[in-house]
Amino acid sequence: MDLTHRPRRLRGSEPVRRMCRETRLSRDSLIYPIFVDETLSGRRSIDSLPGQYHYGLDSVTEAVSECLDAGVGRCILFGIPAEKDAEGSSAWAEDGVVQQAIRRIRAEFPDFYILTDVCLCEYTSHGHCGVLKGEAVDNDPTVEILAKTALSHVRAGADMVAPSDMMDGRVGAIRRTLDENGFQETPILAYSAKYASAFYGPFREAAGSAPAFGDRRGYQMDPHNRREARKECALDAEEGADMLMIKPALPYLDVIRDCSQAFDLPMCAYQVSGEYAMIKAAGERGMVDEHQVMLESAVSIFRAGADMLISYFARELARAITEGEIG
Ligand code: PBG
Repeated sequence: MDLTHRPRRLRGSEPVRRMCRETRLSRDSLIYPIFVDETLSGRRSIDSLPGQYHYGLDSVTEAVSECLDAGVGRCILFGIPAEKDAEGSSAWAEDGVVQQAIRRIRAEFPDFYILTDVCLCEYTSHGHCGVLKGEAVDNDPTVEILAKTALSHVRAGADMVAPSDMMDGRVGAIRRTLDENGFQETPILAYSAKYASAFYGPFREAAGSAPAFGDRRGYQMDPHNRREARKECALDAEEGADMLMIKPALPYLDVIRDCSQAFDLPMCAYQVSGEYAMIKAAGERGMVDEHQVMLESAVSIFRAGADMLISYFARELARAITEGEIG
């Protein structure tokens, strides 16, 4: 019998292929980033992120209803404050932009799940992720401020905090502060391996958070390093992180793979602004099929080992899952 012409692909048609998919996507694993601008009323489109908006405090709940309409029940909030100073003091103000946004969302949508990005770069006049000593970020005083900021978000009603600054010891400090104040049940999603990436460009324009001088290489990771990501994840895990995050996503699939296998904590990936902007730009120019590239990128990130995804495409992805295009 000649066996050489047997098909090696999976036999059967679409129902079989769907049954045998190795990677499953769920709307429950999607998180949508929302930018809230304290100086704005209504919404304004973000030039560097076509299809994305800055929301004023009076319209932030519109962003939430749009998420819910699409089947997305989780967001991560980024604030753009009216006032910036050297310490980023509006980050932990009780009536800060994120704190106010949380209260407004809570009032209208009590069950909508709210994560907050905890960092100082949107709040400091110099645009660095902490307070400075000379031209470098001063780690320990910054960690104290970050812990205060996280606590103020949770007091305002945030369900989870996500420190994105990459300072040493910040996860432990936030955990202690939350515990001491009765928030033992509030999880921390640590931006554990955050690379010093050019893919954050559109975000920095959107959040007005580009550093006024220098760069973030002193506290973000060198893209040449893979094992170092495991070290960062291990430290965050030890300090009490409930979930780990790798960022950006698509250019760092190897890191997602590695770290999701090495740690028994849920793994989040952040498909960042530059990844989104590239797909949009190429799609708009007819160079690629935007929708298909979006779907394939998301599937790849989950296939690599992510359990959840922060993405500006979260709503479109949720619709695609509902329609059965992916998942
Ligand atoms: C704040 C922060 C950044 C992003 C998320 N949190 C910017 C940065 O590190 O410069 C980037 C997200 C994106 O590009 O979509 N530190």
